[in-house]
Amino acid sequence: MRKCAIFDLDGTLTQSEEGIWNGVRYAAEKLGFPEPDAATLRKFIGPPLGFSFREYMGMDEAMAETATMTYREYYNVHGLFENRVYPGIRRLLRTLKQEGWYIGIATGKPQKTSERVVAHFGLDKFVEKLCGPVGDHRPGKIELICDALPEGWDASIDDIWMIGDRKFDIEGAIGAGVKSIGVGYGYGSEEELRQAGCTQYCATVQDVIDFLCPGAAAPKGAFLSIEGLDGSGKGTQIRLLTDVIERFGFELQLTREPGGCPISEKLRDIILDKNHEEMDDVTEALLYAASRAQHVRQVIRPAVEAGKVLLCDRFVDSSVAYQGGGRQLGVQRVLDINAPAVDGTMPMATVYLDVDHETSMARRAAATELDRMELAGDSFHARTEAGYRELIARDPERFIVVDATRTPEEIGREVAQRVLARLMEAE
Ligand code: TYD
Repeated sequence: MRKCAIFDLDGTLTQSEEGIWNGVRYAAEKLGFPEPDAATLRKFIGPPLGFSFREYMGMDEAMAETATMTYREYYNVHGLFENRVYPGIRRLLRTLKQEGWYIGIATGKPQKTSERVVAHFGLDKFVEKLCGPVGDHRPGKIELICDALPEGWDASIDDIWMIGDRKFDIEGAIGAGVKSIGVGYGYGSEEELRQAGCTQYCATVQDVIDFLCPGAAAPKGAFLSIEGLDGSGKGTQIRLLTDVIERFGFELQLTREPGGCPISEKLRDIILDKNHEEMDDVTEALLYAASRAQHVRQVIRPAVEAGKVLLCDRFVDSSVAYQGGGRQLGVQRVLDINAPAVDGTMPMATVYLDVDHETSMARRAAATELDRMELAGDSFHARTEAGYRELIARDPERFIVVDATRTPEEIGREVAQRVLARLMEAE
């Protein structure tokens, strides 16, 4: 017999207040009402909108109806995507799916809107049935839960769980004759959920995973790297990408090379020290590889095993470009030096921020103090760029090459879209 998990959407799978609050503010402003304060806004999450506009903003029936329509003008275009998937939710859904569970959604948000949210975040592939209000019909939670169950379900079967963050979800579950989990990370309190009679209370997403799928292996995470010449805007793009990846509910871990763990950070200091003028090119290449060997085993592999998205600021491609190209040790020689360090652990995708070496050096020179690598001459950076180009030609599937001469926002949008596509493909 299949086990079933039916989820509430807002406050359980997604943290949706940003878009809802902006929608309420938009409606208030357009209709000449004062801007609602934080406490009032908070009350809008959960109950039907018309009810909230009447109850919390003192509107009459007709005005509340207009406010709801005005809200939708904003929400259906922008608000819907001003939303985030709770951290760990993707891992929960993947684990359930992997363990053969049926997954449904029962939500008070209109079905069409909910479908758009779920598709936007790429969660639709996990969900077999999504039920929300259609047109003017406003079903209660009991009806929604029953609708979201698989065809021919039987209330007497043991393993149907409704998972939600408010008392309405728990009361609905009881009415539908199924068990319930109240989750503490959403908009309801533990007290509210326990009073409503939840079968089980889970404070975190991890608790839900441990409760529903004890002992299940964590689905594999993903290893990403980002590369570019010094001054390619890597720092800014890492910040922007981190935000988007987390917004989609992936559990991100950020790290860097050289460095990323205590031993490798010590090696970093040795490698980049400006006073080490006598450092031989082969020594340099071996030190980068040594630092990488530790980092791969201590940080990268464990994170991916635990289901995280590990984003590494530079990886072995930097060695091939800088030591192989820049220092002229040769691409193959540097790959050979790094083989035991990497030991088969390669990124599933690598973002390459594409600026030529003239642009990159002009940008770096205008910024902070330069390190030992950046102090190398102009032809060094030209050869490094050539090294990257050779790598991209060898492995075009792995590289996401992005024109990095545009504004940070334009670059960020393209990087986000292409990286998310790869991550979701691999789920
Ligand atoms: P990075 O931390 O990206 O530079 P910054 O601190 O200026 O942002 O990288 C430090 C330098 O090390 C950079 O010039 C590239 C170089 N490097 C190599 O030459 N080989 C390598 O394998 C790696 C990882 C970095």
